[in-house]
Amino acid sequence: MGFPKDFLWGGATAANQCEGAYSEGGKGLSTADVMTAAAHGVPREITDEVVEGKYYPSHNAVNHYHHFKEDIALFAEMGFKSYRMSIAWSRIFPNGDELAPNEEGLKHYDEVFDTCLQYGIEPVVTLSHFETPLGLLKYGSWENREVIQFFLRYSETVFNRYKGKVKYWLTFNEINVMSTKPWMAAGVHSDDEQVRMTAAYHQFLASAKAVQLAHKIDPENKVGMMYNGHLAYPASSDPDDIQRTNEFMHKMLFYSDVQCRGYYPAYKLKEFEREGIVLPIQDGDLEELKNGKVDFLSFSYYMTHVVGKNSPLVFTGLNGVKTGYTNPHLKMSDWGWAINPSGLRHLLNLLYDRYQIPLMIVENGLGADDKVEEDGSIRDSYRIDYLRDHLQEMKNAIDLDGIPVMGYTMWGPIDIIAASTGEMRKRYGFIYVDVDDQGNGTFKRIKKDSFTWYKNVIATNGEDLN
Ligand code: BG6
Repeated sequence: MGFPKDFLWGGATAANQCEGAYSEGGKGLSTADVMTAAAHGVPREITDEVVEGKYYPSHNAVNHYHHFKEDIALFAEMGFKSYRMSIAWSRIFPNGDELAPNEEGLKHYDEVFDTCLQYGIEPVVTLSHFETPLGLLKYGSWENREVIQFFLRYSETVFNRYKGKVKYWLTFNEINVMSTKPWMAAGVHSDDEQVRMTAAYHQFLASAKAVQLAHKIDPENKVGMMYNGHLAYPASSDPDDIQRTNEFMHKMLFYSDVQCRGYYPAYKLKEFEREGIVLPIQDGDLEELKNGKVDFLSFSYYMTHVVGKNSPLVFTGLNGVKTGYTNPHLKMSDWGWAINPSGLRHLLNLLYDRYQIPLMIVENGLGADDKVEEDGSIRDSYRIDYLRDHLQEMKNAIDLDGIPVMGYTMWGPIDIIAASTGEMRKRYGFIYVDVDDQGNGTFKRIKKDSFTWYKNVIATNGEDLN
């Protein structure tokens, strides 16, 4: 009983939220590099290019690009078995459409992976985490089928280069974010459902082809999909609320249905028929989707939603899902996310019942405004409470429900920029980074109380969560 012996304990980051060095080492701009930070209730702004005088948090972030050795050494000190991170596509192909890769970018990740392996840390690598090369916008980004071949050139390059160093890959981070924040998911600036569904279709195809390529290049490769773990409860037992909740879940689960089953589910095809949405299917595509099913399903989990008969099902703007309901039984994080540990067990069951493939939790954590005490300590007992309760539910899912969970990588083991708001103030880490919302600070790394706690969790393979 308990966690499997080879359980992949660790942490997860994304290049655009931690690396900084946005124009160093031959890197090109990405969609993340033209997003400002939210301030005083005004959401993040997306500019056409980098505008002088505006503050773009990805440009320096927490400077992991230059601090990665120190940061990974701290992860190793906590006993990490895995580090989920992403490659910035525009470090390898600065504009996205070059014929040859940028050697300096490739070398950088060689060093990152070598550092991980030196400590026995298994890299789990996301190919595309909210940062399409900006140079691909002239093609229409993911709305254009041509972008698939650029993504495959990039994928093939990194699969070959890091063969033997990386065996766990994720194709698109939170692919269902296409339905909530399409700019982040795909460099697509539209609330139009046809546009979103066309871009998603191209990503499904690209992912399916990448899965096959990864297996061909190295049969040891395991490729997963990554689902933004939305879970919704009906607002009441009113059958109309329940029906709406099913519709909401279908809006999200159709992404994992396609990637885990290899075909579009009937409910989605019927919706397309009703809405007049046409998929740009070409000969052989459906075969590719079938042959490119993922090996495992990874997902993020932060909160649950409540859905009622009047909840909207089309999500607009950068701020993501708004259902119009709050859950009176749950506490909220400082950023209004409903904290629901048992929902994690629920979701693990739902996903395993549906697909029967191994699962991995690749994001979970609490964004909070940490305070550095006068003695320099950071007493983040609220973070420990949040994580402990979620880990307990994951343990229940393994022990009591028999769910095969491969690993758990807590989100943002070191403080990084928040994706939804671009703030630094919304911190997740076991390790504090001395930098503020304007990018000022010493960038010094400081261990929080949760650092020691997580170290003990891993050392006892999750037996001692206290
Ligand atoms: C997930 C993303 O949606 O949530 C991460 O994959 C993101 O990139 C995380 O950082 C937490 O969200 P936020 O907005 O608090 O950073």
